[in-house]
Amino acid sequence: MSPGNNRVEELPKTVGPTASNTPIRAKLSAKTSMSNESKGDSAGDYWGRNGLGQAILDALTASGKNLDALTIDDLAPMDHFHGGGKDSTVGLARLAGLTPGLRILDVGGGLGGPARTLAVEFGCHVTVVDLTESYVQAASELTARLGLADRVTHQVGNALELPFEDGNFGVVWTQNSGMNIADKERLYKGFFRVLQSGGLLALGEPMAGPVQPPIFPLMWAVDAATSFLRTPDEMRDMIEDAGFRARAWDDVTSQGGLPNNTGPTVGIQDIVMGDAMADIARSGQRNRDEQRIVNVRAVFDRP
Ligand SMILES: C[S@@+](CC[C@H](N)C(=O)[O-])C[C@H]1O[C@@H](n2cnc3c(N)ncnc32)[C@H](O)[C@@H]1O
Repeated sequence: MSPGNNRVEELPKTVGPTASNTPIRAKLSAKTSMSNESKGDSAGDYWGRNGLGQAILDALTASGKNLDALTIDDLAPMDHFHGGGKDSTVGLARLAGLTPGLRILDVGGGLGGPARTLAVEFGCHVTVVDLTESYVQAASELTARLGLADRVTHQVGNALELPFEDGNFGVVWTQNSGMNIADKERLYKGFFRVLQSGGLLALGEPMAGPVQPPIFPLMWAVDAATSFLRTPDEMRDMIEDAGFRARAWDDVTSQGGLPNNTGPTVGIQDIVMGDAMADIARSGQRNRDEQRIVNVRAVFDRP
């Protein structure tokens, strides 16, 4: 399959979550009955978990949070689904210089932690599009629970077929969501299309390091059939070919590569990946140490 083809419809069945290896995690997993989404082979199948919203609430309750007074910081271990967690979200927002009132499209925005942070801490209005129905459902529930539905909306959609008019947004935001997408040329051309002139693209993304191949399993793929990383040079050239101009480009591998829940606290990676998380964390560490995967955050201008 050439890199020019869209492979999102050909992802494997997920590794299912099971009881994990700490008392908290075992208790959490035993309380949930999450299973794979059953809508055919797709990225939604890989990522999706039924009952995710309730699983997150159960984990928050177990950690002593008051569900009737939740804050974005209470939720942060559960809803920023990328290495570095909320800190990397805030760091990217500062790098992009986000200001109140901006209309942002978060592509592959998952459970909505980044979107809610951009709304609460930066005063932005955020539309989140994500392929995985169970995430959109859970994200909508969490946004409503925090009283943010007037500033953050969630909808199911494919990053390669963004259902928006040309020039609709001031910022396209995307964190750790393009790894399963082969046709990155089309992806970034779509970002360019929905941005207004003078807009920004803010991204955080794992990319191929100088040593290849990566060691599997990865957070986003059990094998090479569904992981489509390119090197930083290839990514930057390709994004600029789509019409963007680089404003900032930082290798942040040393800052934010680890899952945001490596301590005793349960986090979203544990909930979604279950027992598979131990192998994913091991290969993730090797991929960073051996320079097989690097993490880049970048901001581009849309002329
Ligand atoms: C690791 S999660 C990151 C979620 C979120 N960006 C964050 O940082 O918290 C990857 C997300 O990408 C989404 N995704 C993968 N392929 C997609 C596609 N083609 N269109 C839209 N979303 C996609 C998945 O459903 C998942 O929510």
